[in-house]
Amino acid sequence: MKNMTLNEIYNQIWNDLKDGVKNTKSAFHYPIISTIDKNGYPSSRTVVLRKINKENNIISFNTDIRSEKWLEIKNNKKISVSIYEPNKKIQIRIIGSAILNYKNKIWDAAWDSTPSMSRECYSTPYPPSTTISKPEDIDNSLKNIQNEDLNKYKVNFGRIDILIKSLDWLYLIHSGHRRAKFELSKNISMCWLAP
Ligand SMILES: Cc1cc2nc3c(=O)[nH]c(=O)nc-3n(C[C@H](O)[C@H](O)[C@H](O)COP(=O)(O)O)c2cc1C
Repeated sequence: MKNMTLNEIYNQIWNDLKDGVKNTKSAFHYPIISTIDKNGYPSSRTVVLRKINKENNIISFNTDIRSEKWLEIKNNKKISVSIYEPNKKIQIRIIGSAILNYKNKIWDAAWDSTPSMSRECYSTPYPPSTTISKPEDIDNSLKNIQNEDLNKYKVNFGRIDILIKSLDWLYLIHSGHRRAKFELSKNISMCWLAP
């Protein structure tokens, strides 16, 4: 890892992201996404990485369109992502713009590739972050949807694409850390940074 070139590091980042889509043991499966809330505070949460597109510099995740993050992105599309994979001792920080996909072809394809178990998440009558009187109501609402056509809950489902502007890679090793920055536009520019 320590002797890799910038080009090799860049390709390795995308390989790790690709692996993260399927590999539930990888930290790349669980990126932390930060947006800006209505009071101007950064708001961070874990999501599941669903898709990557190296050619177009995009990574994607799914969410409930009633959630705070969806509303926050409507107000401010600037987004950042943080991943730390302890087995590889690698931190990735991403800055980019979020694109909300709803009632378009990307949204249709994302829903089609979402299994029933995950579709159930969008069936709750309680929008995320609303106050509820009894937490058990969540279990009851899940029980009630058994055998229901989950397609009707597609209205609550959203696919968020992150168009990556820059990638910051940090590799921790006691003999001397390594850090690199990649600016992504039509051409990729890359450089070493002091860790
Ligand atoms: C392991 C894990 C995976 C998660 N995956 C997602 C996800 O893919 N999409 C999502 O909207 N929330 C996901 N969540 C829940 C979010 O972290 C968050 O609690 C929820 O979406 C509400 O966030 P918000 O109020 O900032 O919108 C996940 C949480 C955990 C712990």
